[in-house]
Amino acid sequence: MSNLSRRKVLSLGAALGLVGAAGTSEAWAWSPADSVAGYGAGTDPEYVWDDEVDQLLVTLLKEGRIPAVNSAMESWVNNNDPLPTGFPAGLTAWLQKVNKLPTWADSAKLARAADFNRRKDTYLFMLYGLGSGIMSTVIPREAKSVYWSAGGADMKDRAAKTFTFGYDLAQLKGFEPEGQFVVTANKTRLVHAAVRHLLPQSPHWTAVSDQKIPISNADILVTFHSLGTYVRRKLLDWKVPFPAEDQEAFLHSWQVALHLLGVREEYIPKSWAAAEAQSAQVLTPILAPSTEGIKLAEDLLGLPSQLDLGVTRGFLNEFVRYVLSDQIGDWLSLKRDPAAAALIRGVWPAYIKFREGLIDVAPGGFYMFDQFVRALAMGFLNNGQSGTTTPIVIPTGNRQG
Ligand code: HEM
Repeated sequence: MSNLSRRKVLSLGAALGLVGAAGTSEAWAWSPADSVAGYGAGTDPEYVWDDEVDQLLVTLLKEGRIPAVNSAMESWVNNNDPLPTGFPAGLTAWLQKVNKLPTWADSAKLARAADFNRRKDTYLFMLYGLGSGIMSTVIPREAKSVYWSAGGADMKDRAAKTFTFGYDLAQLKGFEPEGQFVVTANKTRLVHAAVRHLLPQSPHWTAVSDQKIPISNADILVTFHSLGTYVRRKLLDWKVPFPAEDQEAFLHSWQVALHLLGVREEYIPKSWAAAEAQSAQVLTPILAPSTEGIKLAEDLLGLPSQLDLGVTRGFLNEFVRYVLSDQIGDWLSLKRDPAAAALIRGVWPAYIKFREGLIDVAPGGFYMFDQFVRALAMGFLNNGQSGTTTPIVIPTGNRQG
């Protein structure tokens, strides 16, 4: 890495609150000793996918069985629901192996994580939605995959489906038998497996991709860091009270989620220190604008105005700049709104302090902020419609153009 790009990585990492210094070399240098497994061959996850289910999905797609699987999937929602009888035998056999929590899942930690998610939902909505959501558009591989897959043509629907994942992950009983997260994660794993077969057939995707097959274990780790690792670091930077037990629990819910998404245990960080070291290696250096990402960001930031939440676009642009840095705001050509920028920089820290009971007097602008946050949360929760979550379906093709 040249000195110039190294400096760029360092300053961007600092702006995002993510460490960007160590280990920004090309080779995979993260030790499996820092993983939940504690050991491993040290194989680069760049070349690790999800072989068994990937092969299964090739067969199901070729045999034209996905529409029937999608219909059967409608009744499969809760973790303790029986596997649908309409599933092909191979799919049932595979799900019987994976549709459960790993042996190392700790139910007390998962319950604590859910409680933490409930207590801090305001910040989590803002950070996952406007921080991680927009960060995904400057992760070039993710942006290109999402844009050229079938779902990329309708970002409102896609955002709602992705929200289903976050919503189920954060539910109080998400990991328990009557919760839904285990099933949602497995549906997502099936979608990713289908995408690995479909996208390489897209002339649009192959023209812009540096990979032959998308969504490797390394790519999933990158996305995890843009979600969990980033959000935790921001909460700490914002001085939101975040006791060690809550941090540990929050990490644990993500460790289990990564396992359910098919990431090998030798790559799942065992601690936040290990996660930040990994993030410095895989996430910060690869952030960059792309044609697809710029269009996706425009689509995503247009959604709140479609829902008529009373939040101005200038405010959204500036909030994104606030949480992700001006560098990313410039990459995405987010128009400036100096008044909104001044308001956010001036009031947001005090807004947090007041909400957390650390100061007694509400800052000027508190109610305006509160309305903004509530409106966005409602928009996310309701998808602007009925309050029901949008079912995840396996795609059978790609975006056409
Ligand atoms: C689909 C979550 C990583 C690309 C989905 C869906 C969810 C999801 C919930 C189903 C909803 C939908 O169909 O839109 C996640 C999570 C990840 C992750 C939690 C990691 C922590 C990735 C990565 C990539 C990717 C690394 C690509 C580099 C896609 C694509 C779809 C998809 C292309 C299919 C959209 C379609 O139907 O066309 N993901 N994902 N995902 N994901 Fe991921």
